[in-house]
Amino acid sequence: MTKHPAARRDPGYLGLTRSVAALPASDYFDAAHYERELGRIWYRNWLYVGRSSEVREARSFRTFSIGTQSVVIVRGEDQQVRAFHNTCRHRGAALCQAAEGRFPPAGIVCPYHAWRYSLKGELLQTTSKQLPDDFEPRDLGLYGLPVTEWNGCIFVSLSDHPPAFAKNFDLPLNRLDAWHMDRLAVGHRSRKTIACNWKVFWENYNECLHCPGVHPKLAQLVPLFGRALLEPKDDPHWQDHATDQDPRFRGGLRAGATSWTMDGQPVGVPFPDLSAEDRKSGHVYLTGLPSIFIVGHVDYMRIVRILPLGPELTEMSIEYLFLPESLEAKRNIASAVEFTQTVMGEDAQICEVNQRGLHALAHARGVLMPEEYVIQQFQDWVRAELARP
Ligand code: FES
Ligand SMILES: [Fe+2]
Repeated sequence: MTKHPAARRDPGYLGLTRSVAALPASDYFDAAHYERELGRIWYRNWLYVGRSSEVREARSFRTFSIGTQSVVIVRGEDQQVRAFHNTCRHRGAALCQAAEGRFPPAGIVCPYHAWRYSLKGELLQTTSKQLPDDFEPRDLGLYGLPVTEWNGCIFVSLSDHPPAFAKNFDLPLNRLDAWHMDRLAVGHRSRKTIACNWKVFWENYNECLHCPGVHPKLAQLVPLFGRALLEPKDDPHWQDHATDQDPRFRGGLRAGATSWTMDGQPVGVPFPDLSAEDRKSGHVYLTGLPSIFIVGHVDYMRIVRILPLGPELTEMSIEYLFLPESLEAKRNIASAVEFTQTVMGEDAQICEVNQRGLHALAHARGVLMPEEYVIQQFQDWVRAELARP
């Protein structure tokens, strides 16, 4: 390849101007490194568990696992959601074996020696004939964990001192307010395991250099993606088309399309409070590292949860959210599901292709190209998290 002449770049250009060394390839499969990431990233930050509606009734619970950790999330009689390590204070048995259910009015009873706890985690009863003289039930409540509900979504942290909730989101938390997420209902769910490291998933998500080749349908629907760009200013010569209303340059959906569906037509009742700009763009993304991204379209939302299952295995769960009236009217939402399942399936497949190549003995690390500036930000975040004392 010949050397490039000195490049011209318009002011405001977002891309990298120098090539950047990527993370070491072994960081994507080395078991010890994976354990370190679990400890420093996954056990410290806020993780998306699921929708509040999954524990709508008092006493309903669900369990959530990450790495070696298991957590019980329960809604109390006072409607408060609480989270506890799924571990009895007696000799450490796992309290709940089921993925979800409802505790009896008596509370949480350990399956081993039947210690009983309230839904607030207080130890109410042991089964010993007599308590030791110095026994203090108050000191033996369940191990509580930080938990929060935001927009109908439950997040938990395995750290007693998690970062501020908003810290790892890429946009202000009110960016999706117009969708009134807490009122939405889940119309469809899907789950898939991908044979790749969790970082491979996020890196693929953070660039569109692969869009024209990997996502032919998406590249048609969002013509800017078809040019391998995420944002208009990813083009070094974006000013040449600064006022051009063609979606190839300004972003947004192709002419005639309004939603991310097979034919571009909405399938659900459109959200009434979206701005003209959000309707025109057709998608607004909000990402919360390391576990979630949310997309708002004109008639549905998608919540995608990522969970590492191993150094080279990642689970992707997707929830499709609609206005309740869309589901009550039994609208056919298949076209929205099919479209995004196609795109996410293509991503899953290419992530596995990426993962397979990373083991080459000669490949110490990759290189980031101009369009991959968000990957650089992601990798800087990963490095900073790992370096955090
Ligand atoms: S381990 Fe739970 S009661 Fe013994
Ligand atoms: Fe993609």
